Amino acid sequence: MLADSHGRVATDLRVSLTDRCNLRCTYCMPPEGLDWLPKDEVLTDDEVNRLIAIGVTALGITEVRFTGGEPLLRRGLPGIVAAATALTPRPRTALTTNGIGLARVAPALAEAGLDRVNVSLDTLRPDVFARLARRRRLDDVLAGMAAAAAAGLTPVKVNAVLMRGVNDDEAPELLRYCLDHGYELRFIEQMPLDAQHGWRRDDMVTADEILDRLSAVYSLEAADAATRGSAPAELFRVDGGPATVGVIGSVTRPFCGACDRVRLTADGQIRNCLFAREESDLRPLLRGGATDAEIADRWRAAVAAKLPGHGIDDPAFLQPARPMSAIGG
Ligand code: 5AD
Ligand code: SF4
Repeated sequence: MLADSHGRVATDLRVSLTDRCNLRCTYCMPPEGLDWLPKDEVLTDDEVNRLIAIGVTALGITEVRFTGGEPLLRRGLPGIVAAATALTPRPRTALTTNGIGLARVAPALAEAGLDRVNVSLDTLRPDVFARLARRRRLDDVLAGMAAAAAAGLTPVKVNAVLMRGVNDDEAPELLRYCLDHGYELRFIEQMPLDAQHGWRRDDMVTADEILDRLSAVYSLEAADAATRGSAPAELFRVDGGPATVGVIGSVTRPFCGACDRVRLTADGQIRNCLFAREESDLRPLLRGGATDAEIADRWRAAVAAKLPGHGIDDPAFLQPARPMSAIGG
């Protein structure tokens, strides 16, 4: 088991498969992109597969989520998914993607055993998309979501981040679109994880504000809190249900006490928190002939040291050196 000293157990492994991306969302990256990881520092498909196997068979991981950067840029993705779903016990699998290219590969991913996808969609307006993601790719994203649903990668969940003065008036429209297409929408508060360190708490669109904006158009009723478990989204039934909308108040309503996640970066570091300032490097062990048991021990120690919370409200809070695109969502 991957237990920490605050009584939590990590069962949800988030695997970042690349730090590269084909978008440049303002809350994530500068326009010119970042210094990508050198190729030889990125784990090979075999190395990733070995670590996932250790997590699932020796450390109690039951859910594996593939993230990036943009994980669809990783050539070996269908093979990595197939290797994960061939494990016993079979973990649940999911993919967090910006949706570009998903239209083409959704059937292959379903074939490989992928269970479902989360697609990032912040706006339905082409010009706002171009301003937020700095690329004109809205149609590709919408086509990717539709293809995922058609391939059975369901429920298709949609992640939206609202930015003040850019798309903060779009919450009801986004919800209408997702309700009409059978997607589950969740709004995520913007977190201080951008490479440019441009996050300002006063600018952030809060969970309360998002709920106010939605409530102007829809009736929202809190869904049973007992069903939330370790899920970060607070769910609300829309207009009597059964459809729901989620709000992830990462900053104003932190859920660290129920966190069951652990992260593996594309270059082989275990991170016990999105906001961790320390990592445990598994790459030298992988490449130095360590046994599975030695790797598992190092991994257990990394999770054991997990701090109780992200501390964003602490005056001494420091943003992690690694930006979101190199951690994975
Ligand atoms: N704050 C909140 N969410 C973010 N994402 C990326 N950067 C941030 C941030 N700074 C979202 C993406 C994607 C998911 C992986 O995390 O939009 O949906
Ligand atoms: Fe790419 Fe996701 Fe970052 Fe946008 S938020 S630039 S889609 S990694």
